[in-house]
Amino acid sequence: MKYLADLFTRNRAWAGDIVAADPEFFARLCDIQRPDLLWIGCSDSRVPANEIVGLAPGELFVHRNVANVVPVTDLNAMAVIEYAVSSLGVRHIIVCGHYRCGGVRAALEGHQAGAVALWLQPLRNLADEHRAELDALGSAEERWDRLCELNVAAQVQAVASSEIVEAAWERGAELAVHGWIYDLKDGLLRDLEVTVGNIAAGG
Ligand code: CO
Repeated sequence: MKYLADLFTRNRAWAGDIVAADPEFFARLCDIQRPDLLWIGCSDSRVPANEIVGLAPGELFVHRNVANVVPVTDLNAMAVIEYAVSSLGVRHIIVCGHYRCGGVRAALEGHQAGAVALWLQPLRNLADEHRAELDALGSAEERWDRLCELNVAAQVQAVASSEIVEAAWERGAELAVHGWIYDLKDGLLRDLEVTVGNIAAGG
């Protein structure tokens, strides 16, 4: 008896469907990976990167962590950005947060411990920076949603001011960093219009 046999069954069906529609699909992907997009999102199981933008394997380079935080001291995130920008040559980096993010709520409530608490410190700092705006909102839910948005904007700035991205712009590479938010309630994405970069919309 295999562990998680159902997942292997689903995998065979998935691969079979792709090959039935496009027999060379996997052979083509074997040879080269050339996505134009880097997705930086939350680990939340309800926000699966490829699915929500309808992209196939090979089209999206993905980094996910709790609450889509991009500290410049995080070797993991910086390595992903470096590889995506310098080796793959992606032209768009999308920081995608989501409303009702558990990590954002934990930072607002501020009573957790361990690795998650340490990880969420930048979010607690961000909440403190925007305390007046957050406190002026009418409900805990609105504060939660607003901090989700503020977090996306802050992480766009963090990515845009990273050494890797600044160096890419200095050498004239086309590169834009975008901030989006996903709504669990209806499955829709919204552009927060905090894009930084040298690519015009539609490019
Ligand atoms: Co989340």
